Amino acid sequence: MIERTLTIIKPDSVEKKNVGAIIAHLESEGFEILAARMTRLSEAQARAFYEVHKERPFYNDLVAYMTSGPVWPMCLQREDAIGYLRKVMGATNPAEAEPGTIRALYGESIERNAIHGSDSPENAAGEIAFFFPTADLA
Ligand code: CMP
Repeated sequence: MIERTLTIIKPDSVEKKNVGAIIAHLESEGFEILAARMTRLSEAQARAFYEVHKERPFYNDLVAYMTSGPVWPMCLQREDAIGYLRKVMGATNPAEAEPGTIRALYGESIERNAIHGSDSPENAAGEIAFFFPTADLA
């Protein structure tokens, strides 16, 4: 089934100038980019985006990190986009990610792990709407 998902290229990737390589990697895996923009998250936006993690011990650090520099949210489309992005992205901790995955190639720690990917159809729909009005999706 053709699905849409949300990725965010995180501040560590922008800082290390890996944005182009990550976009090329995603395109080579068959993802179509329906929307993309560069932005800097406010603290309120980062808290809201990661609200599901608000009880976790890493929540405040995660919010501080995600607001530390510019990010690139993108809406991606592909057959089985949600599951396939998680496969191509690799495990949350780059040290445990399969060789060749984006987090293995470009991530450096569980926090500075290169990109985010939606983990379910419900979250994908909410996360796409968080960044992009429907009218902005190509
Ligand atoms: P992401 O896919 O963006 O979703 C939540 C993020 O929390 C995750 O990637 C990690 O970068 C971050 N995080 C930081 N510390 C931890 C941790 N101990 N366990 C899981 N996620 C963590």
